[in-house]
Amino acid sequence: MQRKRIIKVKDKSFTISISERALKRQIKRVADEINRDYEGKNPIFLAVLNGSFIFAADLLREINLACEISFVKLSSYEGVNSTGTIHELIGLNTNITGRPVIIVEDIVDTGLTIARMLETLKGHNPESIDICTLLLKPSKLQVNLNIRYCCRQIPDDFVLGYGLDYDGFGRNTKDLYTII
Ligand code: IMP
Repeated sequence: MQRKRIIKVKDKSFTISISERALKRQIKRVADEINRDYEGKNPIFLAVLNGSFIFAADLLREINLACEISFVKLSSYEGVNSTGTIHELIGLNTNITGRPVIIVEDIVDTGLTIARMLETLKGHNPESIDICTLLLKPSKLQVNLNIRYCCRQIPDDFVLGYGLDYDGFGRNTKDLYTII
């Protein structure tokens, strides 16, 4: 189906940048890497809400390991900017001690959210922790992170769709759009 090239969400306009189809291709590639790297293990995927809900659903359905998924909810963004302050809205409610953990994130921007999460999770003594992100803005990273699984690197522009929002809206947009 032909999608709109330009959309308006609240007061901002966005142009299409990555199609749902292209995203799903990259998600399958990353899922295949995880299936290979975690063979014989039972990882627990820890998806960071809200933005990762669509990515996590698509990723998990490409995973053929015996695995679990749990959710945490963090928030650092207001409008189109990171505030630098991470709020934990729903905490970890699963025992990860001795388990291999894979964090599932929609986008790594400054990296502060994931860095904070890593700190918290390490306190629970998991067997290992890997990061799996749909998108990465390498030029915005403020911390040193080892991101093992990344579907797409993107430029330093605000994006929306495929689960990512602008001020709460646009998460249901099928393709990924960039602000103009
Ligand atoms: P970080 O802590 O700066 O890495 O920010 C991570 C979080 O900010 C992500 O999980 C998103 O919720 C949000 N975020 C960062 N960049 C964007 C964007 O371009 N569009 C929508 N949300 C974003």
